[in-house]
Amino acid sequence: MSTSIAPWFEHDRFGMFIHFGLYSAAARHEWVKNREELTTAEYQRYFDHFDPDLADPADWAAQAKAAGMRYVVLTTKHHDGFCLWDASNTDYKITNTPYGKDLVRAYAEAAREAGLRVGFYHSLIDWHHPDFTVDGYHPQRGDSAAREANAGRDFGRYVDYLHAQVRELLTDYGRIDYLFYDFSYPGHPEGGKGRADWRSEELLALTRQLQPGIVVNDRLDIPADIVTPEQYQPVSPMLRDGEEVPWEACQTTNGSWGYDRDNHDHKSPDLIVRMLANSVSNGGNMLLNVGPNGRGEFDPTDRHILREVGDWMRLHERAIIGAGPSAYVAPADCHYTQAGNRLYVHVFAWPMGHLHLPDLAGKVSYAQLLHDGSEINRVVHEAGTEGLTTQPGGQPAGTLTLELPMRAPSVALPVIELFLTDQRNEVQP
Ligand code: GLC
Repeated sequence: MSTSIAPWFEHDRFGMFIHFGLYSAAARHEWVKNREELTTAEYQRYFDHFDPDLADPADWAAQAKAAGMRYVVLTTKHHDGFCLWDASNTDYKITNTPYGKDLVRAYAEAAREAGLRVGFYHSLIDWHHPDFTVDGYHPQRGDSAAREANAGRDFGRYVDYLHAQVRELLTDYGRIDYLFYDFSYPGHPEGGKGRADWRSEELLALTRQLQPGIVVNDRLDIPADIVTPEQYQPVSPMLRDGEEVPWEACQTTNGSWGYDRDNHDHKSPDLIVRMLANSVSNGGNMLLNVGPNGRGEFDPTDRHILREVGDWMRLHERAIIGAGPSAYVAPADCHYTQAGNRLYVHVFAWPMGHLHLPDLAGKVSYAQLLHDGSEINRVVHEAGTEGLTTQPGGQPAGTLTLELPMRAPSVALPVIELFLTDQRNEVQP
């Protein structure tokens, strides 16, 4: 693991992403302005009607906490350019909508109050600012007049605006632990933007200067503290130039970040739990997104998912928080996480009767199911033993065999806690 990154990040492992903005009212994905090529005038109806009267950041924080999450990341501005705080350099902000309040302030205070680390997501892209040049992702990409007008746009002025917003957000809202910039696309064939456009080095330096110790992602098109695989699960530690790098998988509940009313493609809670365990077993974090609806509430399906994940986390937290990968190699259908001398076997597919763990014979002093603290019997089959009619065998020397109950415990993902007699194989910071 990295030594320079803030230690809380790789300890805490599990966070909540919150995508909220004007698109939450459109309720058909946060890229609706792009997908439907809406003009700012057409998009204005979401601004005029934006009134999330049930938005309760204390409730958001409480649900994150109950789900076992340790940090939260809110969109201060998404690609549509709408600002959720009382930004001093634009009128395109929440305080000018019917809602009229600074949600970023309420959010930061509520998260801190709940003991959660506070993160911001801030879009580099801005489809509202008049100086943001029309490129391959812009909603007006198909409008030749809008493209021709690029000649008169002063992109540098937009970047000054962007930097000033970051300065304000990192100055006026207390301690900010994490910043997710989004995103760079320098190679886009119809016009992209990257580090030179955003003045990324300068922006990163400003970020660190204003909030020493902040964790910053990699989407400024220059390396920073973490890499952010999106909507896929890495199956091994992530590398940058051949070196392991801290990472965080950002995941949705249903494939959309912003509230998407008619999308019912939700992952099951037990899949989400397996994704979390899988992330930690490969040295990563998981940032699970919820998109509050137009009234500012999490929808019932997301609430249900969070509750179920929280039920699992209540019993299995120590296999995730403060845990990391193990140098031991897990058998098929299992993933290991480790914290000190505790090795956690996450059993993805419950086997019949026996679980054979390579290389652990003589290295485990006690074994129990984590959810109920019930002892698990261990046996070592002598090397070279052949399987007999009613006697398992045929395992390589050094294998430790656990005798499991026939029925899998009724938890989203069963975990066995092994107490190791030594920590030589521990992979920890
Ligand atoms: C992407 C999308 C975006 C989402 C983000 C989360 O870059 O543009 O809508 O906010 O990923 O990782």
